[in-house]
Amino acid sequence: EPVESFDYVIFGATGDLTMRKLLPALYRRFAEGQITADSRIVGTARSPLDDETYRERARKALGEHVRADELIDATVNRFLRLVHYVSLNGAESTGNWDGLKTLLESNASADRVRVFYLATAPDLYGEIARNVSEQGLRSDTSRIVLEKPIGTDLDTARKVNENVGRYFPENSIFRIDHYLGKEAVQNIIALRFANPMLERMWDRESIDYVQITAAETVGLEGRGGYYDGSGALRDMIQNHLLQVLTVVAMERPESLDADALRDEKVRVLTSLKPLDRNNLRANVARGQYVQGTAGGKAVPAYREELPGETESNTETFVALKAEIDNDRWQGVPFYLRSGKRMPEKVTEVVVQFRAGEPGLFGEARPGSRLVIRVQPNESVTLPLFVKHPGNSFGLDEVDALSKLGQPERIRYRDSYEGLMLDAVKGSPALFVRKDETEAAWKWVTPILEGWSQDETGPDSYEAGTWGPESARELLQQAGHVWVEDI
Ligand code: BG6
Repeated sequence: EPVESFDYVIFGATGDLTMRKLLPALYRRFAEGQITADSRIVGTARSPLDDETYRERARKALGEHVRADELIDATVNRFLRLVHYVSLNGAESTGNWDGLKTLLESNASADRVRVFYLATAPDLYGEIARNVSEQGLRSDTSRIVLEKPIGTDLDTARKVNENVGRYFPENSIFRIDHYLGKEAVQNIIALRFANPMLERMWDRESIDYVQITAAETVGLEGRGGYYDGSGALRDMIQNHLLQVLTVVAMERPESLDADALRDEKVRVLTSLKPLDRNNLRANVARGQYVQGTAGGKAVPAYREELPGETESNTETFVALKAEIDNDRWQGVPFYLRSGKRMPEKVTEVVVQFRAGEPGLFGEARPGSRLVIRVQPNESVTLPLFVKHPGNSFGLDEVDALSKLGQPERIRYRDSYEGLMLDAVKGSPALFVRKDETEAAWKWVTPILEGWSQDETGPDSYEAGTWGPESARELLQQAGHVWVEDI
């Protein structure tokens, strides 16, 4: 089913995100017949390029970031006909806005959907929104998509929201968190609420603790300028991991409507017990990698990867214990962690059920462990004990395993594919609402403040390991262990 014809205007069109994620996502949806041939994709950035030069860059990007078997020359050529380029600094009111306007008005009917996708530095969002609006480009069917990070703390996030909100109503603002575009994250909602058995066991009575890990093997990837001012807490925890947490922990929403869903997610965020400098040490571990081995080869320390500055205290790893102050979750730790230069690239949720009683089968039975693998190789596994065949009551552990769907035959869509078209359709369910971003920042900001007053800085960990010892100790206090140590 194609979506209605649209114009997609991308600010930051020569940047990394556009080349690596946005254009490939649009290409794939086009190749699947979801994008009509009269839709347009208009890249804007400061570089003075013409359409042809930009198309060649786009072609190269597709060559690098789309799997070879999905690249069909004729399809690529047809796709590139949709692509245009206008040289423009979106944050300045002078410049070729007329060119952009003329292009947008050239064949569009008045009510054609326009999506303005902001993939620039976030401090420009307010200005771009203002210019788009004051130059008369915004219509009733316009939407604006904001990439993360929205701000760097609660105050700056509020400012971004306020500045953009002056020109776009909230229901046309789509804050993207690409983790919500991941098939296996969306599946958590189905798993929890489509299986009454699990739904009944999804609380403190049955669940001992939860772990949410997003580990990466990469280091700085040449993004030092951005990353060093950010760190793992802002880059991953504030958005992606807290989003996964909300989906794992929320109450059953009244419906799957955008607001019903997001109301419940906000409730989780506002119920998080505050962490601040008084309880930081016991609940949060931060680390920075020193040299080690990754993927079989020696890699330098974070501080050596950084251009120039060597004394940085930016954390490349965070592990923390979050608690949700409500009836369902009182006393159940949610351990969140994310880091660069870990031993493997893996995102997963581990739900550890409580241990059983000793008796029939000897010692207390260990609690079952439900593992939701978000990437790579999406799956849900739940090992169960069954009787060993034969004359005794020995036990075997079997893996009740499910891949999601049929991954051998079906390629899961990249997280951006669905989300970019949701913005066209005007479906905000999988986007982050204003109060949601602000609630997440409200919880995260005191941690940042606590750190800034603590001169010890992050603990070191060797590249290619699971983070500093302090991350292990965080769980040991409660007799818990990270999944790789079990
Ligand atoms: C981005 C972060 O939001 O997510 C990056 O800025 C990180 O630092 C990336 O590498 C991880 O995304 P994914 O989809 O590869 O898990």
